[in-house]
Amino acid sequence: SWTMPNYIEEAITKIRQQVGTDEVILGLSGGVDSSVAAALIHRAIGDQLTCVFVDHGLLRYQEAQMVMDMFGKNLGVNVIHVDASVDFLEKLAGETDPERKRKIIGAEFVEVFQHEASKRQNAKWLAQGTIYPDVIESAGAKTKKAHAIKSHHNVGGLPETLNLQLLEPLRDLFKDEVRELGVALGLPRDMVYRHPFPGPGLGVRILGEVKREYTDLLRRADHIFIEELRNTCDEDGLSWYDKTSQAFAVFLPVKSVGVMGDGRTYEYVVALRAVITSDFMTAHWAHLPYDLLGRVSNRIINEVRGINRVVYDVSGKPPATIEWE
Ligand code: XMP
Repeated sequence: SWTMPNYIEEAITKIRQQVGTDEVILGLSGGVDSSVAAALIHRAIGDQLTCVFVDHGLLRYQEAQMVMDMFGKNLGVNVIHVDASVDFLEKLAGETDPERKRKIIGAEFVEVFQHEASKRQNAKWLAQGTIYPDVIESAGAKTKKAHAIKSHHNVGGLPETLNLQLLEPLRDLFKDEVRELGVALGLPRDMVYRHPFPGPGLGVRILGEVKREYTDLLRRADHIFIEELRNTCDEDGLSWYDKTSQAFAVFLPVKSVGVMGDGRTYEYVVALRAVITSDFMTAHWAHLPYDLLGRVSNRIINEVRGINRVVYDVSGKPPATIEWE
C-alpha cells in the first residue's frame, strides 16, 4: 500500500540505480520544489550531490542565509553559494521594460549557473525539481503554443547546453505530495508551506529600473508584512499567512510628501498585495483586517526610512495580474 516512507524508499532506490557513482548537480532556488528534490537526492546519494545556489540579489529578507543554513549546516548538503547580485544589478541597470527585465534575469541566471556547472567536470546529471503540473504545462505549451502573458523564468534548456542527463525525481508528484514529502524528509514546515516566489524575484516587484537601494527597502518592507501575516490569526485560528495564497510588498519608484516630527518628508511608496486563489490563473484580493493593515503600514513607515506611504492593492485577477510586472 502507498505510504510516504515506502515512497521515499522506492524513490531512493531508483535514484541510486539511475546515477550509480556519478556526480549530480542541482540548481537550488530556495523554493519548495528544488529544496525537496535536493533533500531527497541527498538522502539517496549524499556527497555525490552538489547544489548550486545562485543569489541574484533579488531574494527575500535573509533568504540566502536561510537556504545556506538549512542545507549547508543542518542537512550537510554540499552547496555552492554564488553571490551574483553585482552582475545581475549591472545587467539590469537602466532597464525599465518588464519583459526585457525578465529576459535579462533569466539569461544571466543560465549564464551564472552554467559557469558554476562547467567547473564540475565529473558531473553527469542535472537534477531539477520538476513536478507533475510542470510536465503537463510544458506538454500543453508545446502543442497549443499557449499564449503567455508573461515570459516565465525557469532553467529549461540547460541540459542541452551542459550535456547532462536530467534527473527529475518529483516528476510524478502534485504540489501537496511534494510538500508532504518535504516534511517527511525533515524540511521545516514553514519553508515547505511557503508562498510561491517568482524566479525573477524582487526584479518584478520593483516597478521599472532595479537598483540596490530599492531592493534593500523592499526586502525590509516585505519582511514586516510577512511577519505580521504570520503573527495574526483569523477567528478560525489560522494565520493570515496561511489563509492567503500569496502576499508580498511592491516597490513604487514614486515619491510623495509626508510629515514626520516637525519635518516634511518626500519618500517612496510601497504597495501591499495579498491574494486568495486555488490555481493562480484567477485570484481575489484578500480581505485582510483593517487593524492588520494598519499595523503593517505603521511598522513599515516607522522602521523603513525611505518609505513614507503604504497602500493596499484591491485588484482582482483578471484584469490585474498577481505580480505588478
Ligand atoms: P501573474 O503575475 O502572472 O502570476 O498573475 C501568477 C503566478 O506566477 C508567479 N510568477 C512567476 N513564477 N517565474 C516564476 O517562477 C516567473 O517569471 C513568474 N512570474 C509570475 C507569480 O508569483 C504568481 O504566483
